[in-house]
Amino acid sequence: MPDKKKIAIIGGDGIGPEVTREATRLLEQYETRGLPIQLWQLDLGAERFLRDGTTMPKEIFVAIQRECSAVLLGALGDPRVPSMEHARDILFGLRFGLDLYANIRPVKALGDRVVPLKGRGKKDVDFVVFRENTEGVYVGVGGQVKRGTPDEIAINEDVNTRKGVERIIRAAFEFAQASGRKRVHMADKSNAMRHAHELWLRVFDEVRREYPDLQASHVYIDALCLYMVQDPSQFDVVVTNNLFGDIVTDLGAAFQGGLGMAASANVHPAVPGRVGLFEPVHGSAPPLAGKNVANPFAALLTVGMLLSHLGWPEEDARIEAAVADALEAGKCTADVGGSLSTDAAGAAVRERLFSS
Ligand code: NAD
Ligand code: IPM
Ligand code: MN
Repeated sequence: MPDKKKIAIIGGDGIGPEVTREATRLLEQYETRGLPIQLWQLDLGAERFLRDGTTMPKEIFVAIQRECSAVLLGALGDPRVPSMEHARDILFGLRFGLDLYANIRPVKALGDRVVPLKGRGKKDVDFVVFRENTEGVYVGVGGQVKRGTPDEIAINEDVNTRKGVERIIRAAFEFAQASGRKRVHMADKSNAMRHAHELWLRVFDEVRREYPDLQASHVYIDALCLYMVQDPSQFDVVVTNNLFGDIVTDLGAAFQGGLGMAASANVHPAVPGRVGLFEPVHGSAPPLAGKNVANPFAALLTVGMLLSHLGWPEEDARIEAAVADALEAGKCTADVGGSLSTDAAGAAVRERLFSS
């Protein structure tokens, strides 16, 4: 029996615990059927923070780093914690602390019905966004001066390092090559952000030369939004910075049927086997919380990405097929045209995977 791969699970806030419960049930089925995994539930999030001030304890972070193969996260964000203090420590604590520089967000529609673009279907929506995940405006360099006065100044610097830009661009090309995708688009705003984003242009131009069989194109981020809506089928792999990647993947989620359908992986692809963080693209959706109505499919697809990371890519494909089948059969929640509850939609996918 090989060593069990340990998976830390953080449900988090709002709908996070509800969709993560379905993801956990799926993982438990795998465990019962002999997949060598071990689940570790962590009580972290807004509830815990409000109770005793805990965000991300150092010893838990160290245990994740040393012992875990993956972390599964629901979502963070609670109106009772407007500062997002806990979310920053947990989410950015893991993304930055584990140096998970590639946030991989597939934009793939699993049914024609859910694609909202006129005349388009699932065949047109299948690309992958590589979002830089450790730099940009997310690093927290900046500050507020003369706060609360008419002369107030508020600054967040856009931090771009040669190393950071190069490794995400390279990861995108490597992925394109390994997955048989032909085109890599790099999106920046180098026409306006001359200093910071000219670096992206230059590095992209250098790295693309190492992949002569791939088609490499530069596109400004504003035009990318236009082209995505006009014809998403022209994209295979899109690489961009932290902020733009955050925004365009919500736009991409709309092509997939909404945020309830969009999965993501935060990884350090240069070192295979390093712990990764897996989370749906969506947030905690406070208005839906506690009602058993949130769509669990993004969380289930995220489990697929997690299992693929652990060395079982065939399970990713099986989970995706089961979600697509449930969607097609209308065994889904209201946001994607069904009438099921969160747990019934989760059960519909498990039935399709494990009924025999
Ligand atoms: P959100 O993703 O929570 O919701 C945006 C829209 O998508 C809402 O209409 C919501 O109802 C819908 N939606 C999201 N997930 C859904 C699901 N599983 N099923 C059905 N509908 C779903 O974004 P928001 O409203 O901007 O943010 C709410 C909170 O979540 C904020 O605190 C935000 O900071 C946080 N947030 C956290 C993460 C994360 O933890 N990774 C991601 C995004 C937002
Ligand atoms: C996401 C979220 C986060 C981000 C927020 C909650 C800070 O929107 O994971 O997409 O911007 O990275
Ligand atoms: Mn986001």
